Amino acid sequence: MNSSSEPETEPPTANGSSSVFIREMGVDDIAPVYHLGESLFTSDLYPYLYRIWDEWEVIGLYNTDAEFCLVAEVDGQLAGFVLGTIISKASWVYGYIIWLGVSPAFQRRRIADKLVDKLVERMVEEGARIMYVDTDPANLPAMKFFNRKGFGNARKHVFLSMNLTKHEYYGRLIAYERDKSEREGTRRPRRRQ
Ligand SMILES: CC(C)(COP(=O)(O)OP(=O)(O)OC[C@H]1O[C@@H](n2cnc3c(N)ncnc32)[C@H](O)[C@@H]1OP(=O)(O)O)[C@@H](O)C(=O)NCCC(=O)NCCS
Repeated sequence: MNSSSEPETEPPTANGSSSVFIREMGVDDIAPVYHLGESLFTSDLYPYLYRIWDEWEVIGLYNTDAEFCLVAEVDGQLAGFVLGTIISKASWVYGYIIWLGVSPAFQRRRIADKLVDKLVERMVEEGARIMYVDTDPANLPAMKFFNRKGFGNARKHVFLSMNLTKHEYYGRLIAYERDKSEREGTRRPRRRQ
């Protein structure tokens, strides 16, 4: 497949407005992409996206799927990004859009449109014949965006939660673990997945 980081630009516009430049994400983009995502996937707007967005998402996908990590630049500024992956199951190849974000200053200028088009082109080259994306149904900009792009057949997926400290059995287990580590004078290091 063509995974070169050849610039993908639009010709300059007659009215002199800035053109959008879509290219592969580079190592120097990792921190700016992470921070842009942090400003977009906020806990009040998108609790689910906020919970799972962290720098490891960006670094991990950059390491495993660099050709499906694209950024959009306008006048040298990071305007947006898309991070995806390919999933092969039996004889089917699926393209999965994991993260998509456009800076508020650049929204409604077809930047997400161009990022997704470029990503789908690359995924088609890799054999993808079906695309997937998931988002919060309350995220209307994203829902409208994906519907307009041709995504449909929505299936609802419900997230449930449980406060372990309030659970009859797990609450006692947490208290037991806390007492144990206090007795031993140790604290178990938090494990990353
Ligand atoms: C969703 C998002 C990526 C769209 O980016 P964008 O570059 O502004 O989108 P585009 O300019 O390509 O929009 C194309 C179409 O999407 C829909 N759309 C985009 N933003 C919208 C909004 N705020 N309200 C309603 N529809 C919207 C419209 O149909 C729009 O066409 P129109 O401008 O002719 O009405 C952007 O709003 C965003 O970054 N949101 C926060 C992050 C997020 O929710 N990501 C998706 C889940 S990972």
